[in-house]
Amino acid sequence: EKGMYPHYMLKEIDEQPAVMRKIIQAYQNEQGKLEIEEGILTALNNADRLYIIAAGTSYHAGLVGKEYFEKIAGIPVEVHISSEFGYNMPLLSEKPLFMFITQSGETADSRQVLVKIKKLGHPTLTVTNVKGSTLSREADYTLLLHAGPEIAVASTKAYTAQIAVLALTAAVAAEKAGHPIDFDIVQELGIVANAVQAMVDSKEEMEKIARDFLSTTRNAFFIGRNLDFCVSMEGALKLKEISYIQAEGFAGGELKHGTIALIEDGTPIFALATQKAVSLNIRGNVKEVVARGANPCIIAMEGMEEEGDTLVLPKVHPLLTPLVSVIPLQLISYYAALHRDCDVDKPRNLAKSVTVE
Ligand code: F6R
Repeated sequence: EKGMYPHYMLKEIDEQPAVMRKIIQAYQNEQGKLEIEEGILTALNNADRLYIIAAGTSYHAGLVGKEYFEKIAGIPVEVHISSEFGYNMPLLSEKPLFMFITQSGETADSRQVLVKIKKLGHPTLTVTNVKGSTLSREADYTLLLHAGPEIAVASTKAYTAQIAVLALTAAVAAEKAGHPIDFDIVQELGIVANAVQAMVDSKEEMEKIARDFLSTTRNAFFIGRNLDFCVSMEGALKLKEISYIQAEGFAGGELKHGTIALIEDGTPIFALATQKAVSLNIRGNVKEVVARGANPCIIAMEGMEEEGDTLVLPKVHPLLTPLVSVIPLQLISYYAALHRDCDVDKPRNLAKSVTVE
């Protein structure tokens, strides 16, 4: 029930701080210690490579997950689009583990890969929001998102839930393998929940950004580096699917290799700057597009902001920034769609779960 909300999408965006806290709770035992099913931890730590298979927004969450399993747990990861993997399987490692990320647990493109992988006899794990869904039933193991039903076609709280669950899982796997991380993941996710709350409480600001940058444009670009690049792709997808504005997410450094030709006077560019190691580089990329007339909306993390930035995100752990930086992008897309009289919850040509290949 969407209650007092005009749209499910807005309600689901608002639920994200609570979902974050719910996930922390759901994965803790009575003593407050994080717990993941033994079989999953063993499967992760026995694998010589993790293959993440997903579509759309879940694929974008998988790209963030790769960073966690590699940087936190030391497990090499490949992330694949399920519809491509189905007919073009790469050479597999000797001891692969397959992880299917799917909000609905019903996506046909992902399921067909699961069926093939099971025939090959490799271990499988589904990360899903829907208990008892097809991909959950058919995989060896399941990790639940605990995000509550997601009704709006555009995925919001499932994306952040996926990222949070992947971060927790990577942290517990690392500990189990005897190389625990040097930060308290539960505490850091708590800080994230507060930062997300601050962002969902800034709706007026987001509505204004949507008005200032997107009210008349035909296209928009999202740029970032490293984790910010992953979020740029998700920001562009959100904007495309509900507002029908043509949008693309790019790695900051890649712009000059072609896309910069599209920049005209007033072209909106959303630039994310949350990663200290590449903050000078992304600032440089913004200068390149501004010199060609672009209208930059710079979203920077506290401590990295500069005068003239559009939005400052509360500071969180550098690996967890996607959980916060995506929130303004979700809200900006929501308001851009509203301003254009689009059907926010049921965009044209789209279905909530895609059960055809
Ligand atoms: C975008 C969106 C889709 C889904 C994709 C995969 O907002 O919702 O891109 O993420 O269809 O769906 P699941 O995660 O259910 O497999």
